Amino acid sequence: MLVIIFGLGSLGTHLANTLSKAGCVVIGVSRNKPQELSDGVAHSTNEEAYARAIAHTGEFCIINTVAMTDVDHCEAHPESAYKSNFEYLIKIGELFKPLNPILVHISTDQLYDRGTLPKSEVDEVSPVNVYGYTKRMAEIYMAKWDRGITIRTNYFGRTIAGKKNNFEFIIKSIECSKEVYMTPDIVFNPINIDLLVSGITKLINKKVFGIINITSNDVVSRYELANILIKEYDQRKLSLLRSIRYEDLHFYAKRSRWMVLNNSKYTELSHTSIPALPHQIRDYLNSRET
Ligand SMILES: NC(=O)c1ccc[n+]([C@@H]2O[C@H](COP(=O)([O-])OP(=O)(O)OC[C@H]3O[C@@H](n4cnc5c(N)ncnc54)[C@H](OP(=O)(O)O)[C@@H]3O)[C@@H](O)[C@H]2O)c1
Repeated sequence: MLVIIFGLGSLGTHLANTLSKAGCVVIGVSRNKPQELSDGVAHSTNEEAYARAIAHTGEFCIINTVAMTDVDHCEAHPESAYKSNFEYLIKIGELFKPLNPILVHISTDQLYDRGTLPKSEVDEVSPVNVYGYTKRMAEIYMAKWDRGITIRTNYFGRTIAGKKNNFEFIIKSIECSKEVYMTPDIVFNPINIDLLVSGITKLINKKVFGIINITSNDVVSRYELANILIKEYDQRKLSLLRSIRYEDLHFYAKRSRWMVLNNSKYTELSHTSIPALPHQIRDYLNSRET
């Protein structure tokens, strides 16, 4: 299958490399070519990708991973957030629509404020910041696509050079014997990027359309996630982990405090069983060594 991936940030690059390895013809479209992009992936401008798609006769798929992901930056620059998180999707969607591709869009778990129960794909959303609002606007556009897949998720794991990586920040801090402050008041169920990429691939192959949550089964706070990471990395450094209340972090943009997504639609449709978080984190730590 021909796959055109817009945005070669951490997720886009990882998807491009994995799909290319799996035998897809992959074109990555981005402003800059990341050094981590494998040789098997063609790097292109939008126009070149469009020309290739017109010439292609079989099924093809577009994946949009373009976004402004820095939540505080989105709050300070709402017009740019609107452009990256919403308008960009409309632009490529309308351009390729006459060719009837499968369109995959990556949304977010930052669509809720507080809660107690995991949110399913049909639960009401209540975004609390510009990032969440602009991501939600993109979901509303996606709802018009018959062959659209909208993934709600939150991931950890390998990132590309220059991109923020919370796990590496924690590891670096404890290596330098610096205290790490994490909040117990923000709760979610993130998934290893490798499992996310394999999940997205399965949904494309099975042509499962609509909104789908891809997350872990385990629900953790940011503090608990850091606790698991440090335990797996070097148990002796656990005393460096400190708890800090959400209110004391003084974020510029308000944060979603309850981002737990119910993943049962995904696990049932894809026949997937998701490993526990400590297992996923061990896999991440092992992948750093290779
Ligand atoms: N990271 C997470 O845990 C997480 C959680 C939930 C959802 N998501 C979603 O997952 C998707 C991928 O995120 P990621 O982690 O891969 O983010 P990322 O590494 O920051 O990648 C985002 C990409 O979008 C590009 N971009 C932004 N604005 C653009 C514009 N106006 N025109 C062209 N390119 C533009 C960036 O290009 P430059 O590099 O040139 O700036 C970058 O390559 C996003 O939709 C994000 O909202 C991520």
